[in-house]
Amino acid sequence: MSSSFGKDFLWGGAVAAHQLEGAWNKEGKGISIADVMTAGSHDIRREITDGVLEGKYYPNHTGIDFYSRYKEDIALFAEMGFKCFRTSIAWSRIFPNGDELEPNEAGLKFYDDLFDELLKYQIEPIITLSHFEMPYYLVKEYGGFRNRKCIDFFVRYAETVMRRYKDKVKYWMTFNEINNQADFEEDIFPFCNSGILFHEGDNREEVVYQAVHHELVASARVVKIGHQINPNFKIGCMMAMVPLYPYSCNPDDVMLCEEEMRKRWYYADVHCRGAYGNYAKKWWKRKGLNIVMEPGDEQILKEGTVDFIGLSYYMSGAIKAHLENKGDVAFKNFIKNPYIQESDWGWQIDPVGLRYTLNLLYDRYQLPLFIVENGFGAVDQQLESGEIRDDYRIEYLKTHIRELQKAIELDGVDVIGYMPWGCIDLISFGTGEMKKRYGFIYVDRDNEGNGTLARYKKLSFNWYQQVIKSNGTVL
Ligand code: BG6
Repeated sequence: MSSSFGKDFLWGGAVAAHQLEGAWNKEGKGISIADVMTAGSHDIRREITDGVLEGKYYPNHTGIDFYSRYKEDIALFAEMGFKCFRTSIAWSRIFPNGDELEPNEAGLKFYDDLFDELLKYQIEPIITLSHFEMPYYLVKEYGGFRNRKCIDFFVRYAETVMRRYKDKVKYWMTFNEINNQADFEEDIFPFCNSGILFHEGDNREEVVYQAVHHELVASARVVKIGHQINPNFKIGCMMAMVPLYPYSCNPDDVMLCEEEMRKRWYYADVHCRGAYGNYAKKWWKRKGLNIVMEPGDEQILKEGTVDFIGLSYYMSGAIKAHLENKGDVAFKNFIKNPYIQESDWGWQIDPVGLRYTLNLLYDRYQLPLFIVENGFGAVDQQLESGEIRDDYRIEYLKTHIRELQKAIELDGVDVIGYMPWGCIDLISFGTGEMKKRYGFIYVDRDNEGNGTLARYKKLSFNWYQQVIKSNGTVL
């Protein structure tokens, strides 16, 4: 059977350093923002503590100990047939505080070894430069990205690693899910995206959008420098794509939906078109937001547009104007969509939404798209025999891949690759739990940090192996 996916289609899996490496203070690594976040759950928010406090449990400190077990794990990825593997570089392994002039050689060496191990199996490393793990020192001393100085710190870090790995890594992304912080009323998002802790009297919106401007400038500078370091680099942005549907054909629902979608386009427009949309400038004015730009910033944005769009897709959302009771839904402004199911964490499962999203993005920007996260966080049971029969995960992924196939085959969208999130079980970003599992590989570890850390193949392991082997023709 002929495949809709090109012969070079990048099948793989994705993770982020802080969610699996552990070794939070080994070989010169500094404290990162992920290291001061305690474990929470669906109903309990993760706490952001003032430094690492005794008596608190910080699940990212150990992760799944990928730091010492990566060879074993990469061998399993290779067995599944991965063509690519997405991870991030922990900024605080390279510049422990973030403002040093010289990098930490031990940190650089770790990623050299990690990339060599991937390349040994012809697995292409796909690298995120900043995935919710900036050095905590930058938060305390500088206020995170609310401070313009962080642009230079980030550029120095990015330039250092891009030079070091210029012959090992071709695909890079700058800031993971940069648009999460549009939800600035939830502390976790501005903290993880930009290292922002709010103070009494802060205009949250202004603080966040100022930091976002700094990140967009930093990203554009890194794109330009990266292309100078190696013209073959492909450098992307990374967007959390939760497409929104108007709840009804009431024009007010439709218009509200249009406006809410701008909370995604705001970022992607700058990354992809090199300028803020007119609606953004009108919005600053309307809301009285004073976003400070320096002379030359607009030129930098123009010169640093991305080569591709990396995106995560987990769910869609429905939006309703004049809302009185939205019911119990996971995200602010959303209302339960009666046509679709949801996960145990309230995430609305919508495979068609993936095709819809890919079309939205491609129509707007005509840039190659890379699905760098998609997946189903669920509670897995390990049977006495050791088996984990995660057919619900297979179902989720299968239905999403079918829609991806349609986007390529029927709609002509240019998609470079597909990487399910958390291809090996890891610490949840949102809740800090271990029990919200996404992997093809089960890791024996629980929410309290107990367990042997042994790895087991789930049913989905063999399934994904044949998906890759057949280039998506056998699902
Ligand atoms: C994305 C992040 O938000 O979704 C990942 O880029 C995260 O870091 C993933 O883990 C799934 O979210 P969660 O909260 O289920 O871990």
